[in-house]
Amino acid sequence: MRRLALIALIAAGPAAAGEDLALGAATFAGACATCHGAEAKGDGPMTQVLSVDVPDLTAISARNDGTFPWLRVVHIVDGRTGLRGHGGAMPVFGATFAGDAAVADARDGTPVIASARILAVVDYLASIQQEP
Ligand code: HEC
Repeated sequence: MRRLALIALIAAGPAAAGEDLALGAATFAGACATCHGAEAKGDGPMTQVLSVDVPDLTAISARNDGTFPWLRVVHIVDGRTGLRGHGGAMPVFGATFAGDAAVADARDGTPVIASARILAVVDYLASIQQEP
């Protein structure tokens, strides 16, 4: 059954971009904005009680030579890969968002299976990057 569902997902391909961004924006507002801020500028209300700086998520590309490191950001948010799992104040969401697996292609074409909400929120972040 599970395998069938996955095949159906792959066959369906990525959801319409508009849909993904809406899910991503809603996920961001619900799970990330308390720390990262409503505009993702790193100024959410939780920053007042955190002892670490919360990064501006609209400047990820700017911090990475102008390229949005999509797969790395998926890993950071998912946190289950062992790849810089935040190790700090940032919670990991892989387990929280488990159960809505979706497939997306990384820039190099590698299919990535992660929570639909994680993929959507990373696509949302990619869409709000600002010029350095
Ligand atoms: C409890 C506060 C908190 C919440 C909630 C939170 N973050 Fe973070 N986030 C942080 C902190 C602090 C850092 C920087 C230190 C670290 O990596 O742990 C960070 C770092 C990041 C980074 C790395 C940025 C970079 O340029 O290296 C990304 C991407 C990120 N967060 C995305 C998200 C997303 C997406 C969500 C919601 C699904 C989220 N965060 C929710 C506190 C939070």
